[in-house]
Amino acid sequence: MGTEESAQTEQYKRMVLDEWTDAATVAAWRKWHPKATTQLQAMTDALLEAAGVRAGLRVLDLASGTGQPAIDLARAVGPTGHVTATDLSAGMLAAAEEHARQAGLTNLTCRQADAHDLPFADGAFEVVTSRSGAMYFTDIRRALGEVRRVLAPGGRVALAVWGPADQGTFNSSVLAPFLRRVSRPPPPPDAPQPYRFAAAGMLRGELERAGFRAVTEVHRVLPQPWPGPPEECRQFFYDIAIPLRPLFDSLPPQERAAAVEEVVELLRAHYDGRMVNATRAAVLVSGMRWRAPSSAPRPSRRCGGDVFLPQLPHAGVTDGGSCRHSLIALRLVDALAWAERSHLLPAVVQEKPNPDHRMAARARIMWRGVRRSPATLGVGDVQEIGGGRAGACPASCCTVERSAPASRRSPT
Ligand SMILES: C[S@@+](CC[C@H](N)C(=O)[O-])C[C@H]1O[C@@H](n2cnc3c(N)ncnc32)[C@H](O)[C@@H]1O
Repeated sequence: MGTEESAQTEQYKRMVLDEWTDAATVAAWRKWHPKATTQLQAMTDALLEAAGVRAGLRVLDLASGTGQPAIDLARAVGPTGHVTATDLSAGMLAAAEEHARQAGLTNLTCRQADAHDLPFADGAFEVVTSRSGAMYFTDIRRALGEVRRVLAPGGRVALAVWGPADQGTFNSSVLAPFLRRVSRPPPPPDAPQPYRFAAAGMLRGELERAGFRAVTEVHRVLPQPWPGPPEECRQFFYDIAIPLRPLFDSLPPQERAAAVEEVVELLRAHYDGRMVNATRAAVLVSGMRWRAPSSAPRPSRRCGGDVFLPQLPHAGVTDGGSCRHSLIALRLVDALAWAERSHLLPAVVQEKPNPDHRMAARARIMWRGVRRSPATLGVGDVQEIGGGRAGACPASCCTVERSAPASRRSPT
C-alpha cells in the first residue's frame, strides 16, 4: 500500500469509527432495534441459509451492531453451538449484549473487535458471518485474510451486503428524492458506504482473491417490511443510515423539506395501514476455506439438512433431486460441504429451478480434479450430508448405489 493510499485508508478508518461510535448513532440503533429486526428478517434468513448454519456450530459474527443477525444465529446453532458477536463500537455491542440477554440466550458472547485484527486463534470457528458490515471494512483484503485465518479448514464465510441503490421499492422511495436534488460525484470504489459492493462480482472477486473456494454470489430483491406508518419509516432510515447523512443534510431547508415530503408519499404507496411493504436489493456472497485432503477422507461430522441423491457420481456430475419422485431438495450448502469433504474441489455449483419440486431448487455439482475414484463414493457419503435421508427413491424409479466401507476405499 502506497503512502497516499494508506493515508486515505486511515482517513476512512477514522470516519467509520466516528460514525459508529457516536452516542446519537448508538441511541438511534438501540431505539429502532425491534422494528429493524422485523424489517431485515428476510436478509437475516437469506444470510443464515447462505452460511449453512446448523446446530452445534461455532459461529463468529462480524460487525454485529445491536445484535442481529447474531441473535438469530445463536438460536440456529442451539445450546450445543456458540456465537461470538463482535463490533468495533463498544456502544453498539453493549446494546447487542442487552438484546441477547432479553432473548434469554446463553450461547452468545459479545467481544469488541476490529474485523481487520481479530483477537481469535487460527481455525477457531466453523462459520463467519456479517450482515451489512463488510462494506465498512476499510481494508477488505486484510479483513478477509483474518476471516480465513480464524475459520477452521472446511469452514464457511457468508456475507450479506446491499445491492444496487436503483433496485427495490425502498431505495426508490427513501433515496431517489434526495439523489434527484443533489448532484455529487459517485463515491470512490473503496469508500466505506452502504452500496460499495452492490455491483455484480465485486465482493465475490474479493473472496476469490482472499483464497476462498467454491465462492458463490447471489443477487436478490428481498421483502423489507416496516411495521409502522410511512413517516416513521422515513425517520428511522434518516436516524440509522449514518453514512448517508451527508446526502440528506446537504440540501437547503426548503428543498430538504420537499424531498422528505416526497419520501413519505412514495412510502405511502406501499402502506397497507399496518406495514410499509417495500423491497430492497441484497447481495449474498459465500465461500469456503479449503480443507486439504487427508489420508482418511471420511467426513468428520454429520451435517444437518435433508438430501436425496438418486444418482451417485460416476461420470463426475451429480444431479441432486433429478429423480422426479424425490421428495427432498438438495440444499446447495450441503452439496458444497459434501463436495469439499469428498475432495471433489474445485466444485462448480449451479442452482437450477426445479419445476417438479415443491420445496426448493435442485443443484448440480460438477467437479474437476477428482482425488479418488467417484465410484468409491456412495450411500455412506450421502448419508453423512443427508442426515440419513439417502436411500431408495420412494417411487422406485431409480436406484441408489451401495458404497464400500470407508476402510476399503481406494484413493486414486
Ligand atoms: C450497518 S451496521 C450493521 C450492524 C448489524 N450487523 C446489522 O445488520 O444490523 C454496521 C456495523 O459495522 C460495524 N463496523 C464497521 N467497521 C467495522 C470493523 N472494522 N470491525 C468491526 N465492526 C465494524 C459498525 O460499528 C456498525 O455497528
